[in-house]
Amino acid sequence: MTAALPAGVYGKPPADVADTPPEAIQFSPLTPGAPALERQAEASLASMTMLAPPGTLERRYAMALALRAVAPGGAFTVLAPKDKGGTRLRKELEVFGCTVEETARRHHRIAVCTRPSALNGTDEALSNGAPRLVEDLGLWSQPGVFSWDRIDPGTALLLQHLPSFSGRGADFGCGLGLLAHAVLQSAKVTQLTLIDIDRRAIECAQHNIADARAQFRWTDARDADPELSALDFVVMNAPFHDAGAEDKTLALSFVKRAAEVLRKDGVCWLVANRHLPYEAILQPLFKRVTLRIETGGYKIYEATK
Ligand SMILES: C[S@@+](CC[C@H](N)C(=O)[O-])C[C@H]1O[C@@H](n2cnc3c(N)ncnc32)[C@H](O)[C@@H]1O
Repeated sequence: MTAALPAGVYGKPPADVADTPPEAIQFSPLTPGAPALERQAEASLASMTMLAPPGTLERRYAMALALRAVAPGGAFTVLAPKDKGGTRLRKELEVFGCTVEETARRHHRIAVCTRPSALNGTDEALSNGAPRLVEDLGLWSQPGVFSWDRIDPGTALLLQHLPSFSGRGADFGCGLGLLAHAVLQSAKVTQLTLIDIDRRAIECAQHNIADARAQFRWTDARDADPELSALDFVVMNAPFHDAGAEDKTLALSFVKRAAEVLRKDGVCWLVANRHLPYEAILQPLFKRVTLRIETGGYKIYEATK
C-alpha cells in the first residue's frame, strides 16, 4: 500500500508538462534545506516526479535513488527536455527493470512507469554517480557538481591571478572549493564563508577544505545573511546558468550581494565570461572597477567598494 506514504518531487517539473502533487517533498540538492534522497529510506515514498538532470551519470544516479525510495507499485514520472537527456529516459529506465510509457509535451519527453518489485543495475548507477576523490583534481567531487571532473578555465585563470587576501571574506558559489583553497593559503585570512546552492558542492567542499577558518553555507547567495557584513573581500566565478538555462540576472544578483556585504574599500575579485556585460553591472555598485586580465574568452575584474 502506497496511499499513506508521502509523494516526492525532484527539481521543478514545469506545471504544463507534468503534474506534481502540491504536498510532494522536494529532494533536489539545488533546493537549500531539502532532505537528501540518498538518506531517504527504501520504499518510503508513494510516488516521485522528477525533472531529470542533464548529465548522464547524475541522471542515472538520481533515478536509481528515486526508484529505491519509491515503494513497489508506486508511480515514477521522469521528464527532461529532449535535448537534455529526454530521449534517453526510456532506455535508462528499462535497464533498471521498469516498463515505460513515454509521451512528449512542450519539447520534453515524459517517461511514466511503476516501480517494479525488483530493480536491476541501480547499484552500478549509484556507485557511478556517488561522491568520490577525483585523482586528477586531488579533490572530492561528484557528477552533477559544477565542472566536477576538470578545472573550469575561468577558475584556472582566476587562480593564477588572485592576490593574497587578509581579513574576513566570502566565496560566492564556491563549488568544490578551488578558489577557497587558494584564498586560505594566506595566513592573514581570518575567516572565509563558502556559499553554494548545491548541497553536493558544499559537502564536497567540506571534504576538500579542512581549515578552521572556513565556514560552509548551503544557501542561495542572493538571500540576505545577517552574518555576512563588512567583509574585506569576496571572490567568485559567478554562475550565469540557473537550473540549466542561461540567466544573466543571476550574475547581476551575485555582484549586487558582493557590493552589499563588503566594507568600504573591500574588494571583489571575479572572473566572468567575456560576453557578459559585467562593466555595466559593476560600475554603479563599486567606486573603482579594474579589468585585470582579458584573455581566452574570460575577464577578471577587481572591484573596490
Ligand atoms: C561557475 S561555478 C564556480 C564554482 C567554483 N567557485 C569554481 O570556481 O570552480 C558557480 C557556482 O555557483 C553555484 N550557484 C549557482 N547559483 C547559485 C546561487 N543562487 N547561490 C549560491 N550558489 C549558486 C553553482 O552551484 C556553482 O557551484
